[in-house]
Amino acid sequence: MEERMLSGELQGAEANEELSLRPEKLDQYIGQDKTKKNLSIFIEAARMREEPLDHTLLFGPPGLGKTTLASIIANEMGVQFRMTSGPAIERAGDLAAILSSLEAGDVLFIDEIHRLPRSVEEVLYPAMEDFCLDIVVGTGPSARSVRLDLPPFTLVGATTRAGLLSAPLRDRFGVHSRLDFYDNTALCSIIERTADIFDVVIEKSAAAEVARRSRGTPRIANRLLRRVRDIAQVKRENSIGLETAQQALRMLQVDARGLDHIDHKLLLGMMDGFKGGPVGLDTISATIGEESQTIEDVYEPYLLQLGFIQRTPRGRVVTPMAYAHFDREVPEA
Ligand code: ADE
Repeated sequence: MEERMLSGELQGAEANEELSLRPEKLDQYIGQDKTKKNLSIFIEAARMREEPLDHTLLFGPPGLGKTTLASIIANEMGVQFRMTSGPAIERAGDLAAILSSLEAGDVLFIDEIHRLPRSVEEVLYPAMEDFCLDIVVGTGPSARSVRLDLPPFTLVGATTRAGLLSAPLRDRFGVHSRLDFYDNTALCSIIERTADIFDVVIEKSAAAEVARRSRGTPRIANRLLRRVRDIAQVKRENSIGLETAQQALRMLQVDARGLDHIDHKLLLGMMDGFKGGPVGLDTISATIGEESQTIEDVYEPYLLQLGFIQRTPRGRVVTPMAYAHFDREVPEA
């Protein structure tokens, strides 16, 4: 089975570079203070007992560092990190092969764990609970079930929303940690850390500008920083200034609050087509041509956090703040 290295957004050289940007230890990881504090205690306790860490579920919008945290857990526990994803495991046998190749204490990371097929999920239950595999050998009347012992391991599962998991799977994780959007201070520190790794100098004002437009998301901050660095390089600037940052962000069509053309399409579509709502998710999806699930997992969380949309029982509503962002009047009810 092929193991995925990243969750989609980056490819080729930038994907490899992204890996090298990842902090390796918890004390290098910026932000998510609550998660970090909890994990450091659970890790320390597990180490003292010489046991693997309890199975851990990380959830939250994409790009906030779930994979990074999982690999940090392995580093902190001093064990191997194995990575796969829900959609990559098609059959029970695929998972059985991965599980039976684990060594004692290993961290197995399953990204997008909510996309595991049901039949595969059922193999996972006894593996998580009792560290064993129930395999059926033979067919027909001679078929019988054989129980294989597995080494104790830690499953780290990642998903965008905990609610996407079936209850039996969710209940088998001893640790549940929600990752939140980063504040600007944390994002600035991440941008400065990345600039340092890139060996470029970025002025405070420029870092703050990139941070403000990164949707609370380190992956976006680092991607914007790469483009800002490109422009500074072509302009032969020794250090990245505010003007260069703003120029790059204009070119990328990222607005002052970090919204891109898809966010604009979504909000303006709701304003122009539906007087700001309420509009059902599927209607929005059909109007702008993006999958409902992508809207819900990728675009909506930040718009909700900004207070630009609200969810009501009758659908999504654009708020007066969003109208103000576009310099528009709120329509009469
Ligand atoms: N790079 C991306 N996310 C990071 C984080 N949370 N801390 C440090 N560096 C990062």
